Amino acid sequence: MTVIKEKDFGTPERQSDETVTLKIDGKTVTVPAGTSVMRAAAEADIAIPKLCATDMLESFGSCRMCLVEVEGQRGTPSSCTLPATDGMNVSTQTERLAKLRRGVMELYISDHPLDCLTCAANGDCELQDMAGVVGLRDVRYGYEGESHLDAVKDESNPYFTYDPSKCIVCSRCVRACDEVQGTFAITIAGRGFESRVNAGVNEDFFDSECVSCGACVQACPTATLTETSIVDHGQPDHSVITTCAYCGVGCSFKAEMKGDQVVRMVPYKDGGANHGHSCVKGRFAWGYATHKDRVTSPMIRDKITDPWQEVSWEEAIAFAADRLKTIQEKYGRKSIGGITSSRCTNEEVWAVQKLIRAGFGNNNVDTCARVCHSPTGFGLKQTLGTSAGTQNFDSVMEADVIMVIGANPTDAHPVFASQMKRRLRQGAKLIIADPRQIDLVRSPHVEADFHLPLLPGTNVALINAMSHVIATEGLVDDDYIRERCEIDAYEDWLQFIKDPQNAPEALAETIGVPAEDIRAAARLYATGGNAAIYYGLGVTEHSQGSTMVIGMANLAMATGNIGRVGVGVNPLRGQNNVQGSCDMGSFPHELPDYRPVSDDAVRGTFENHWGVTLDGEPGFRIPNMFNEAVAGGFKAMYVQGEDVAQSDPDTQHVEAALKNLDCLIVQDLFLNETARFAHVFLPGTSFLEKDGTFINAERRINRVRPVMEPKQGKEEWRITQDLAQAMGYPMNYSSAAEIMDEIAALTPSFANVSFGFLDDVGSVQWPCNDDAPLGTPTMHIDGFVRGKGLFITTEFVPTLEQTNRKFPLIMTTGRILAQYNVGAQTRRTANSDWMHEDILEIHAHDAELRGIRDGDWVSIKSRKGETTLRAQISDRMQPGVVYTTFHMPETGTNVITTELSDWATNCPEYKVTAVQVALTNHKSEWQEDYHETIDILRQVQVAAEPAE
Ligand code: SF4
Ligand code: SF4
Ligand code: SF4
Ligand code: FES
Repeated sequence: MTVIKEKDFGTPERQSDETVTLKIDGKTVTVPAGTSVMRAAAEADIAIPKLCATDMLESFGSCRMCLVEVEGQRGTPSSCTLPATDGMNVSTQTERLAKLRRGVMELYISDHPLDCLTCAANGDCELQDMAGVVGLRDVRYGYEGESHLDAVKDESNPYFTYDPSKCIVCSRCVRACDEVQGTFAITIAGRGFESRVNAGVNEDFFDSECVSCGACVQACPTATLTETSIVDHGQPDHSVITTCAYCGVGCSFKAEMKGDQVVRMVPYKDGGANHGHSCVKGRFAWGYATHKDRVTSPMIRDKITDPWQEVSWEEAIAFAADRLKTIQEKYGRKSIGGITSSRCTNEEVWAVQKLIRAGFGNNNVDTCARVCHSPTGFGLKQTLGTSAGTQNFDSVMEADVIMVIGANPTDAHPVFASQMKRRLRQGAKLIIADPRQIDLVRSPHVEADFHLPLLPGTNVALINAMSHVIATEGLVDDDYIRERCEIDAYEDWLQFIKDPQNAPEALAETIGVPAEDIRAAARLYATGGNAAIYYGLGVTEHSQGSTMVIGMANLAMATGNIGRVGVGVNPLRGQNNVQGSCDMGSFPHELPDYRPVSDDAVRGTFENHWGVTLDGEPGFRIPNMFNEAVAGGFKAMYVQGEDVAQSDPDTQHVEAALKNLDCLIVQDLFLNETARFAHVFLPGTSFLEKDGTFINAERRINRVRPVMEPKQGKEEWRITQDLAQAMGYPMNYSSAAEIMDEIAALTPSFANVSFGFLDDVGSVQWPCNDDAPLGTPTMHIDGFVRGKGLFITTEFVPTLEQTNRKFPLIMTTGRILAQYNVGAQTRRTANSDWMHEDILEIHAHDAELRGIRDGDWVSIKSRKGETTLRAQISDRMQPGVVYTTFHMPETGTNVITTELSDWATNCPEYKVTAVQVALTNHKSEWQEDYHETIDILRQVQVAAEPAE
């Protein structure tokens, strides 16, 4: 096994229809016009020495190592900045060049600590390599005199160090931060000998604007910027390509290993979603996988007030199966069910939904998409025919107008945000619809053309008002609509949307945005060229989430903005495999590929393959399971990798439901909040131990490869398989690859997919079948998947959750960059150095009215419950709206959120809760109870006798 070293071509690839042909060291090379001589040489496997150039960044031409000679030209130009031209004859190795390069290298080395043997980068240092390449044997300038050798290290960042004594001022870090990440956090300050890299205005990295994406560390050719893990553990001895297990961007990484220890995660340049970039979570926050809190022994207990007992796998599975069978005998086949995990692989999810349908004999299966993007599935399926986004991420580079609705990409989908910002710096226009002033509204070199700070709960009014402008000002694309959409439905929609009640002027007060801004934004969307919508949970987590998704699809169809590169309607999906868990058939009414369980023919296909009779009736959604559990008819749940007690709304109701179960089986890495109510704990595996696939927000099927053995001794699909067998249903896979083969056999969109195929092509976007053998980056090109696009009217119905004198503020929720979802992983990493508690963002006016100062403890109370957290006065907020996250179990944000949900899918209305906020000096009652019970409920009785 070796460390995978990706070739560095020195400068970025150029795309052009024109080519140029030149000779380099006697070799004929043909490259696209605009390619540098350095890259042309690299394409022909001719390596030109370099230090300041790397193919992730535009050339800079500062180090003078890459000099070449060109026949007929005077001087020795830098090959990284020299464009290749037709007929050029280039020499890269001459005596003259060798002498010049040695001279340059001597200067660098004369101000460099020669501690190579003890340097963390030893063996992975371009300066060291180049010294060897140019044949440096002596440094004539000596090491005396002024130098930077005593410069002080900056070790403020928990993930990387900055050692200025090793800096060669090549500026690669600065350019990476600007060009790749788009944060502009660092600069080269000073001139000449005084030049040094500065984070912020003489701040340390931790306190600066740096978001710890790691791009600068990756770009640095020396040990100046080095991962702390490399300093601690040394260089890797092999690497494995796998996929990040955090968000729906689905970044590819090289897990660099030393034995079975990860020493570094490096974003993979050939990753289809990330092209070699990363964010702080995927790049650095992987330590949770080996955290001491990991549970590695199965555990059982008779009652949830008993301590846990560690038992063997066999005992735990037999205990679980016995309970499930007993419950079914007593309460009926439909009294049990389960939830699949969007954190797990497709193969693991497939096994669980199959266990429930074939082993439990019902369709009581649901997934966390219920509480995030189920309206996306519904809305896009109804209008376009496919329950997924329409584009790949790269499509944004062709967008002229980008509309971001209810999403905060720089925090929640950072790598895609960096790509989007790159396009915005190239001049694309930006419309943001968000109650809060998210970073994208104004950040270095990016400024929204329109920020529409709508009031939470008024999305549908806004999209209707924008569509009204387009319909009444003659901005619809008639030809597109007549060719591609159902005309009768379009005419109905047109009549509806033209009604004056949908005019911006009629809705401006409701929305909280001036009518002229809505009009101007709508005109820009309709007339600005390729217009692309990107949206998040700020769209879906509303009582009209599905209506809003339909409204966006209407708007895109009306303006001809679906079916080519640069446009589309694109959900930024939350969890790493939420798309996959939906595709794998985790919904109670749909078999894999979104086919109804009530369809006899579809069911017949699965029945033949699985050798069972399947239930044709839809099962319970998650909220139904909770309601039925409270009512007493639903008695057992198998929860795979979800923490519903923290993540789902109306915590009191969820806890009441979980307490009422006779058997709750939790499969997870940690004893999470849900496990407080469990009878069986089956330890799961981290992504580093998994073999399988994840599907990201652009429908990309990425391989997840194990870099270490399962810490608890069993792959997760095997746990499910064992449970199926103990329940009496024969499930007999011998590998994850075999599960994917079954997925491909039974799921038309995956017909051509196998592990072998993915290993060959890297990754692929479904549908991938005989019609699209290499996948489908852009959907609906020659027509909509459903045939004709369907316009559906979208009447705005205000949510029932309204403010009043008692609850005068609206609380909305979201995520921040450093933490992730319920925080189970990120809280167990140094990411907590940036954020260790949920805080309540509140506008200065609202704070002043209540006598609240920055940092005060405040109680926040809704019709459902109350919690206490710290306030932060924030100019991101508008008066009347407060914001918080739900990363910390101690905060219990969902104690406050309500049971209201989307009319079509039951996706909870997390984004709108009427609240009151007041100064306090004590914890809420819920928090007192939580702290009292938490220790008891998690108590483990190690190596005890098996439970009776
Ligand atoms: S820190 Fe590294 S990348 Fe940045 S200027 Fe110094 S040597 Fe170059
Ligand atoms: S880690 Fe990322 S954000 Fe921070 S300075 Fe480096 S490139 Fe910029
Ligand atoms: S953007 Fe998402 S997938 Fe990529 S590294 Fe960050 S968390 Fe992982
Ligand atoms: S690599 Fe070309 S000037 Fe530095």
